[in-house]
Amino acid sequence: MTATIQAIGVANGGGDCSGLNAVIRGAVHTAILKHGWRVVGIHDGFDGLIWPERTTPLTTDAVADILSRGGTILGTTNRGNPFHYPVEENGITVTHDYSLTCCENMRKLGLDALVVIGGDGTLGIARDLGRLGLPIVGVPKTIDNDISATEVTFGFDTALHVATDAIDRLHTTAESHGRVMVIQVMGRDAGWIALHSGIAGGVDVILIPEIPFTIETVCEKIRKQELSGKKFSLVVVAEGVKLPALDPAGKPFPAPRPGQVGILIGDAIQKFLKKEVRVAVLGHIQRGGSPSPFDRILSTRFGVEAVELIARGIFGHMVCLRAGEIQSVPLDEAAGKMRLVDPMGGIVRTARSVGITFGDQA
Ligand code: F6P
Repeated sequence: MTATIQAIGVANGGGDCSGLNAVIRGAVHTAILKHGWRVVGIHDGFDGLIWPERTTPLTTDAVADILSRGGTILGTTNRGNPFHYPVEENGITVTHDYSLTCCENMRKLGLDALVVIGGDGTLGIARDLGRLGLPIVGVPKTIDNDISATEVTFGFDTALHVATDAIDRLHTTAESHGRVMVIQVMGRDAGWIALHSGIAGGVDVILIPEIPFTIETVCEKIRKQELSGKKFSLVVVAEGVKLPALDPAGKPFPAPRPGQVGILIGDAIQKFLKKEVRVAVLGHIQRGGSPSPFDRILSTRFGVEAVELIARGIFGHMVCLRAGEIQSVPLDEAAGKMRLVDPMGGIVRTARSVGITFGDQA
């Protein structure tokens, strides 16, 4: 038993991600079974701290059977920043600052500390609530794997399995029909899923936000392959990739609808090469479903360590993975710093060595 702590809250914010439930379970089990604390689930991001009726007790029964389940039993939202909460008033959207309400409701709920699981946006909110005096620890979450302070975030491995499986399936149909297949994966700012799944799936072209590309260079690669007898090509596109200013006809590319950049790239390749192209947008399939064993273990380790930080009285920190060990880092250092793919880094060089192009050179 830890003398000063009697009850903690657990909240998650932003997009869902495989492994969230495993973090919640890890935290709840450690808090209850090891420390004898009470645990309260904060629902729908920080909404449960603004409206405390949206909280529930998290007992060991409440978290039974959730280890292998995707999504989050707490519900989530990416529109619930308590510092700028959007509210409809007289037909227009205004924002309210509910941050002090959150602090007050923590006290009313009898919570001594809060575990916040989230990506960059949610961790930034956690840091700012911490600056108001809330005892908070963070847990990094995103399938994009782009939080700089941790080597890996949970959810990435599961998304990578889904993307690689999709590439394997599209490979056989590309080969059978002699087509170009464009596969769009997630990755809003960083190309980690595209880079790793592209190497794992043995694709020909990987297009990521960190490396500028041209359609002509992509097509040159596809054409060279055809001349050498390979009649099909696989192109993986991260959804955050930046289109070149002009298409091969010298016209400006239209602005892509959110999550649709792969379709414009597929159209441009088809026009330039006059070859059959098909586009598959994987979308939220990568975020759903049962977490991989790696993600279940990482999530559990993160959930356990978040509670242990509270037990040791360490607040304003985020758990992280470094050199295979679970450590922690101040939220001030973690929030707002992205881990992007290094275009000159080892993994990009590995991809180039096995003949993959990034559209910057044929
Ligand atoms: O940041 C994680 C992520 O999955 C991004 O890759 C993607 O751009 C975004 O979330 C999608 O968010 P939403 O669920 O709001 O469409």
